[in-house]
Amino acid sequence: MISEQIATEIVKISPDGRNDNALRRAGDILRRGGLVVFPTETVYGLGANARSADACARIFAAKGRPQDNPLIVHVASPADAEEFCFTTPLYYKLAEAFMPGPITVIMPSRGVIPKEVTAGLDSVGVRCPSHPVAHHLLVAAGLPVAAPSANLSGRPSPTSADHVIADLFGRVDMIIDGGDADIGLESTIVKINEEGLILLRPGAVTYDALLCVCEKVSIAPAVTDPLSEEERPLSPGMKYRHYAPKAPLFLLEGNDEARRSFMIEKIASGENCLFLCYEEEMTLPGLKALSIGKKSDFETQGRRLFACLREADAAGVQCIYAPMPPRSGMGLALYNRLIRAAAHQVISL
Ligand code: TXA
Ligand code: MG
Repeated sequence: MISEQIATEIVKISPDGRNDNALRRAGDILRRGGLVVFPTETVYGLGANARSADACARIFAAKGRPQDNPLIVHVASPADAEEFCFTTPLYYKLAEAFMPGPITVIMPSRGVIPKEVTAGLDSVGVRCPSHPVAHHLLVAAGLPVAAPSANLSGRPSPTSADHVIADLFGRVDMIIDGGDADIGLESTIVKINEEGLILLRPGAVTYDALLCVCEKVSIAPAVTDPLSEEERPLSPGMKYRHYAPKAPLFLLEGNDEARRSFMIEKIASGENCLFLCYEEEMTLPGLKALSIGKKSDFETQGRRLFACLREADAAGVQCIYAPMPPRSGMGLALYNRLIRAAAHQVISL
């Protein structure tokens, strides 16, 4: 569906969330069924009143999002989830450990959130963001707010207001610019089941951190492996190739020395390619590259990854190469985003 052009107001708010007037207006827009883009600690979100099927239909239209991909619901306080979810003691243990913060918890739905929002599923994802602007907006709106990442479907999630403006200007009522996202990768998603937790999307709340709260955490196969044609993912979003760089992306599996030799070979061959590489590798003469951060600094790599993918898209190259992240700690979140952007194309060095 093509969304018609609407007037978009852009407001700058200091990251501590103090601009009562603008937030009050943003709250009014949400209560009237409008769309407001707001910063969170993970990525920017495209918000609408989660109780309204009509308001949320506008999210799908603005993003060009497939109707079968459900939206998660943002709340000002963990207990606000009682209105629309059947919560459990494990939810409150997770909330105590990680909320407000970068985690989304999927629980059985009470049917209050319209089926258009949950894509007909009998569960709802709840997220209580820690970003002060997001928090003050949720309080000002006085509503649960459905919000996917504020990118056009198929583009990397936005980590700055500029990314949002590039994708959604003219498609939303208001964009709140609260500066660059601190984490830069979307929230960790877990689903509560009879046995414990299933990790559906890795993020800044790591697998090890989850294990400190719940003894039994399994990792959904789609986090690391490609889905076969007939397989149904536990989270509908996992079946989409989330980021589609225009040029094919390949992950390089191998040690520093092997990656260095590969780069030298590519420079000598004159191939029109771009490397996403570690800060330490940027000095190689003749290398066309973007730094994702120091090799051991996963926080910076998380913060920069999506901006690098957008820049790589704009670079007009034939091919993009990136180092294979480790599959532990924050590395698992980086791996999950990169392996899908690369459509599982790996070069073993
Ligand atoms: O950090 C984040 O989570 C950001 C910020 C804005 O909060 N939001 C975000 O939303 O990344 P989105 O829609 O881009 O990703 C949410 C994912 C989708 O892949 C969707 O399929 C999945 O969560 N999801 C939503 N509801 C679900 C449910 N009931 N069961 C399983 N997966 C669900
Ligand atoms: Mg998204």
